[in-house]
Amino acid sequence: MSRVEPCDHPSSRDCGIRDFVMRIRLFEKEDLPAILAIQKKTPLAAQWRDHDYAQLAALPGGMILVADLETMTPPKVLGFAAFHRVIDEAEMQNFAVDPEHQRQGVARALLEEAKRRLREDGTKRCFLEVRAGNKAAHELYFSVGFGLYSNRKNYYRDPPDDALILALELFPLTIMP
Ligand SMILES: CC(C)(COP(=O)(O)OP(=O)(O)OC[C@H]1O[C@@H](n2cnc3c(N)ncnc32)[C@H](O)[C@@H]1OP(=O)(O)O)[C@@H](O)C(=O)NCCC(=O)NCCS
Repeated sequence: MSRVEPCDHPSSRDCGIRDFVMRIRLFEKEDLPAILAIQKKTPLAAQWRDHDYAQLAALPGGMILVADLETMTPPKVLGFAAFHRVIDEAEMQNFAVDPEHQRQGVARALLEEAKRRLREDGTKRCFLEVRAGNKAAHELYFSVGFGLYSNRKNYYRDPPDDALILALELFPLTIMP
C-alpha cells in the first residue's frame, strides 16, 4: 500500500482533497459501487460489468489498484487501475479517475504504485491500449515512461478511432559506455 500525505499535487490546493490522505491499495468487493459510478462518468474507460472486476481480482495474475481518501468517513474512492499479469508481462485493462478529482495527481499515483508492485513481482513489461484521440491519457502515459509499441487502424467504434499500443519497460536495459 502507498500513501500520499496529504495530496501533494499542486492542483490539489483548490480541490478539497488537500487535507486528506490519499492511499493506493488493492481492490475490495465493497469498492464495486464506487468504481462502477466512476466508470459511468468516464466514457473513455472500458465499461465493465461488476463481475468483470471480481473475476479479474480473483485471477492469480489479476491486480486492481484503488485510490481512496482513507481519512474520509467512509473512505472516498477517487480512481482505479486494473491489470492482468501473465508470466513476466502485464496489461493494463481499465483505468479511470473520478472527473471531480482529475488533474490532482491520482492517476500518476496509481501508475507509480502499479510500477512498484509489478517490478516487485518480476514483471518485465507492461502494455496498454489507448484511443489515438485520448490526449490526456497519452500525456500521462508518456510522462511515466510508456512508449509507442504499435498501432491498430480503426480499432475502436462509437466514435471510430485508431488504437495505440503503448509499452513500459519495467527494467530498462542500460547501455554501457
Ligand atoms: C486519463 C486519466 C486517468 C488521468 O487521470 P488524472 O488523475 O486526472 O491524471 P493526473 O492528475 O495524475 O495527471 C498526470 C499527468 O497526466 C497529464 N494529464 C492528465 N489529464 C490531462 C488533460 N486533461 N490534458 C492534458 N494532460 C493531462 C498531465 O501531464 C498530468 O500532469 P500535470 O497535472 O502535472 O500536468 C483521466 O483523465 C481519466 O480518468 N480519463 C477518462 C478515462 C480514461 O481515459 N482512461 C484511460 C483509458 S486508456
